[in-house]
Amino acid sequence: MGNLKQINLGKGGPLVSSFGLGCMGMSDFYGNKDTRDDKESIATIHAALEAGISFFNTGDFYGMGHNELLLREAIKGKREKFFISVKFGALRSHNGQFLGYDVRPQAVKNFISYSLQRLGTDYIDLYQPSRPDPEVPVEDTVGAISELIQEGKVRYLGLSESGEEVIRRAHKVHPVSALEIEYSLATRVAEKKILPTTRELGISLVAYGALSRGLLSGTITGNLAAGDFRSFSPRFSNENLTKNNLLVEELKKIADGKGATPSQIALAWVANQGEDILTLIGTSKRTRLAENLKATEILLSDEEKFRLNEIFHENAVLGERYPSQGMAHVVS
Ligand SMILES: NC(=O)c1ccc[n+]([C@@H]2O[C@H](COP(=O)([O-])OP(=O)(O)OC[C@H]3O[C@@H](n4cnc5c(N)ncnc54)[C@H](OP(=O)(O)O)[C@@H]3O)[C@@H](O)[C@H]2O)c1
Repeated sequence: MGNLKQINLGKGGPLVSSFGLGCMGMSDFYGNKDTRDDKESIATIHAALEAGISFFNTGDFYGMGHNELLLREAIKGKREKFFISVKFGALRSHNGQFLGYDVRPQAVKNFISYSLQRLGTDYIDLYQPSRPDPEVPVEDTVGAISELIQEGKVRYLGLSESGEEVIRRAHKVHPVSALEIEYSLATRVAEKKILPTTRELGISLVAYGALSRGLLSGTITGNLAAGDFRSFSPRFSNENLTKNNLLVEELKKIADGKGATPSQIALAWVANQGEDILTLIGTSKRTRLAENLKATEILLSDEEKFRLNEIFHENAVLGERYPSQGMAHVVS
């Protein structure tokens, strides 16, 4: 067991590790079926648990069930040591194409029954719609989750990429424990209205994309695998990537000065934003997990924070974080 800090998820909520493992890349988005390595992914989940991570993040649509099946394998015989966060609602075809969202109450009840089977468990710790759907009142969606909580099938309610109004409306139906949203040096949209709202209501923030999908690691120079999400992402278009990597060069200088890696500094920056923030480490490899966990040992001085804010000022990073059809469903 490592010495990771524990935080409450939501005001007075359950204790979880302040860093969580994001499992998505083990199944999807950053490569394709041929680049998956299930054995290494399961070993990474076990290494995370061993290091003191208790929070594991997945979605039923990550690899169309593949990610949950990986977790099933990893949690076998030790379910109680894992706090599992599952997103649902995204509809996908067999080849991965996104077909929309379904967060109607009957869909909630349907999705969870499949997730429970795939995970091989009889409860999910944190359950959340992956995106709100303006066609379905959020009260209806979270009302269905609240019923699942009463039935013991779900422990806590979460939201993902939801704006201020949706957060407030959902919280009135059932206390929201956590809001998952992209947050990094390169993506600061959560600071405007989301963090003030979650802080007022006592909701934790689960920060995903803390490395801006690998950009801040300084290892992305183009040549992405076929089907890699980043090959459709404006932030990684050839022109934007070249310019964004100049910012990462400056991040590297700060990292070099501290004997750290750019990923460690980027993760430490997110983690330093508050006790109410749970930082997701998105990796499928043990070596990177070990590298990234050293972020817990890094303290940033005021001068370093000032310099990081200067480098990554509001308009510094070029390109939206999702292609236009994806931007329509996230906080902007
Ligand atoms: N709510 C939502 O809408 C939403 C959206 C996206 C993601 N998420 C969740 O958030 C988690 C984390 O976000 P993310 O994985 O998308 O983005 P991320 O953590 O910013 O970046 C992940 C990428 O960086 C690479 N990486 C990690 N550590 C590295 C290092 N030290 N050096 C070089 N490359 C490194 C990973 O590759 P390797 O695997 O090869 O290390 C992967 O390609 C996901 O796993 C998922 O659970 C939620």
